[in-house]
Amino acid sequence: MEERIISGEVNEQEISLEQSLRPQTLKQYIGQNQVKGNLEVFIKAAKLRRETLDHVLLYGPPGLGKTTLAVIIANEMGVNIRTTSGPAIERPGDLAAILTALEPGDVLFIDEIHRLPRSIEEVLYPAMEDFCLDIVIGKGPTARSVRLDLPPFTLVGATTRAGALSAPLRDRFGVLGRLEYYNEDELKNIVKRTAELFDTEIDDQSAGEIARRARGTPRIANRLLRRVRDFAQVKGDGSINLNLAKEALELLQVDRLGLDHIDHKLLKGIIEKFRGGPVGLDTIAASIGEEAETIEDVYEPYLLQIGFLQRTPRGRLVTPKVYHHFGMEVPTK
Ligand SMILES: Nc1ncnc2c1ncn2[C@@H]1O[C@H](COP(=O)(O)OP(=O)(O)OP(=O)(O)O)[C@@H](O)[C@H]1O
Ligand SMILES: [Mg+2]
Repeated sequence: MEERIISGEVNEQEISLEQSLRPQTLKQYIGQNQVKGNLEVFIKAAKLRRETLDHVLLYGPPGLGKTTLAVIIANEMGVNIRTTSGPAIERPGDLAAILTALEPGDVLFIDEIHRLPRSIEEVLYPAMEDFCLDIVIGKGPTARSVRLDLPPFTLVGATTRAGALSAPLRDRFGVLGRLEYYNEDELKNIVKRTAELFDTEIDDQSAGEIARRARGTPRIANRLLRRVRDFAQVKGDGSINLNLAKEALELLQVDRLGLDHIDHKLLKGIIEKFRGGPVGLDTIAASIGEEAETIEDVYEPYLLQIGFLQRTPRGRLVTPKVYHHFGMEVPTK
């Protein structure tokens, strides 16, 4: 699959850069007011009682700030954060090693927690509930189980697919934080904040232009800003104005709603080959030479989110918005 500039997923080169852009406190974290408000209260209460914070599950699409928030939680609680991920923990011993090394109050961050093997989940339950581990020592008839006490800790889990989490695991989180796509104003503020960290001048309108094309996602906003900044440095004096921003975004082939040529191919394919639908997913996939799964998991979510596509029992349907967006006439059926 080719790399898309408007993909919510992180790419190799930007991982370390992203870390330097992460807000460090709740105050610096823009948007997500509901989740932020809840966390603020729970963190304050836990600190007043001198207790550890309840376990927190953060879920939502890639690039919306789950990892960022996990780090902030640890910062606000004044504790260390230990980071691992679902697929990295293969055997119960891996988890035991991590848990027994925690200091009292620490945050254990498990990214992609939906990919944790079921056998590990079972070890995690008593750890989450009673801060203890049941370990089996030895084999065969002499095997016995010993109970190990753990320091109290806060588990912060993150996932893009909350539905893939088993119910018993989900139920053991006291705080559920669902991250939403950001609105234009919030993204604009994120663009301005990042520009400041970059020491790049940007005017209000240009920040808005980038925000509108960022598909509700801070990661994409920051990525677009970086590319526009490159353009400004090469073509101008380094500062970003509206004309320059528009020109750069045009060259990047990101349209005014943040759609790229793949979105265009998909939408125009449905219009031109299937009169706008409804048409089955597999049929679309074959007609534009893409995997049905890729269309469903990667291409469609944003188009559904902005009301460009509809899922009906008879297949996918493009909405009148799409015709307007392409300057086409809406067909009468
Ligand atoms: N609320 C925010 N305010 C400012 N910047 C943000 C915010 N949320 C995210 N970002 C920026 O977006 C980038 C991506 O965020 P983060 O890595 O936390 O996303 P994620 O939800 O963990 O993504 P993934 O699902 O890929 O793990 C970070 O570098 C961060 O700088
Ligand atoms: Mg993350």
